Amino acid sequence: MRQIAPVTSPLNLSLSVPGDKSISHRALLFTVFTEGVSKIRHLGTGADIQSTIRVLRQLGMKIDYSSDGNSAEIHSTGLDGLSHPDSDLDCGNSGTTMRLMAGLLAGRPFRSALSGDESLRSRPMKRIVEPLESMGASIKARQEGTAPLEISPAELTGIDYTMPVASAQVKSAIILAGLQADGKTLIREQTIARRHTEEMLRQFGASTEIEGPVITIEPLSDLLKAYDFVVPGDPSSAAFWAAAAAISPGSTCTIEDIHLSTERIGFYRALSAMGAQVDIQILNSSIEPRGNIKVTARDLYGITLDGEDVPGMIDELPLVAVLGAYAHGTTTVLQAEELRHKECDRIRAICHNLQAMGIDITEYQDGFEVTGGISPKGAKLDSFGDHRIAMAFAVAAMAAEGPSQMINPEAASISYPEFWRILDNLGQDS
Ligand code: S3P
Repeated sequence: MRQIAPVTSPLNLSLSVPGDKSISHRALLFTVFTEGVSKIRHLGTGADIQSTIRVLRQLGMKIDYSSDGNSAEIHSTGLDGLSHPDSDLDCGNSGTTMRLMAGLLAGRPFRSALSGDESLRSRPMKRIVEPLESMGASIKARQEGTAPLEISPAELTGIDYTMPVASAQVKSAIILAGLQADGKTLIREQTIARRHTEEMLRQFGASTEIEGPVITIEPLSDLLKAYDFVVPGDPSSAAFWAAAAAISPGSTCTIEDIHLSTERIGFYRALSAMGAQVDIQILNSSIEPRGNIKVTARDLYGITLDGEDVPGMIDELPLVAVLGAYAHGTTTVLQAEELRHKECDRIRAICHNLQAMGIDITEYQDGFEVTGGISPKGAKLDSFGDHRIAMAFAVAAMAAEGPSQMINPEAASISYPEFWRILDNLGQDS
């Protein structure tokens, strides 16, 4: 349990955040398609990234990890250098590790089993098992369609697949299998989810074409060259500080060098639509855009978000609920049932915590409606073991009337181990 005291003076924050979690996973994982030594700097520092490193090591990859925890040298001899693991591959809490690894391992000539913690073992895996099986993969999940996933060697063939859910993890699993398949693979997206996999692989030299919502993957004929890669800051981690400034009158927050692709910055678009001043400065677009964001607090007003809006801010919707509690009018989020399948049931967790703070919120199967206008009260909050819930409600507590307590605050370390230390210093630094 952790105490959270309200921060009473305006914030004037200027900070950088650790490397983007999604991009860090991929920068590490795609070295399996290369030959030589790749160097990755400014990696995400969270436990999920450690899960990807652990699994790659279990598969025989040599990874030298710097003691400050944010750069790595990976020695790869290519896909054929991966070896049969001695035990189950432990993906911890990381859905990205499990789903991307499943696509990668589906085409390998050895058996493997992917497992993880209780939360990960309750998350839906049919969404990857079905398309991978239609490529010829042999994957055995539990009857409920959950992990552990037992993968046996199989010959893969390319498919033409229309995505039933907007999910970058599913899309990426198919792409990684497609690189090892016979014939080309087409993926058609109804709503475009984050494009890191296809953009990074294309940049690293794979034959991957992106035309609007259609991605075409040719099987990899040669190994790719090892690369040096600097991961941009994580816009999802930055969002906590942006939201903290937005709900604290008179505050500003500048975050430097974060990833800024359209598919990732939906939260900042929503923040601006709610009335905050959001200035985005793109400084470099060599693979995907990166640059700075400045948020200045202004009065906030409720908005409605649904369908197409959702994938671009899927991880930030708990924060949108928090902003809604501090906004005038109602904030409605619909067609976001995916939130129920994240590290916890996030719709439930959002409603539980905002109700504890005295806020009027209606729970829907696919979203929620929050009524703002009453000051949130300090309360006993619960992270439900979910990093994004822990941090979103720590932000809510910062601007609340009276102190709060957070059950299981350590969950934040899944993506942002530095979070609580920064929050503890805020009152003093600003
Ligand atoms: C991620 C994709 C998203 C996101 C997750 C990371 C990724 O999940 O919620 O935190 O790295 O591809 P889905 O693609 O399943 O929506």
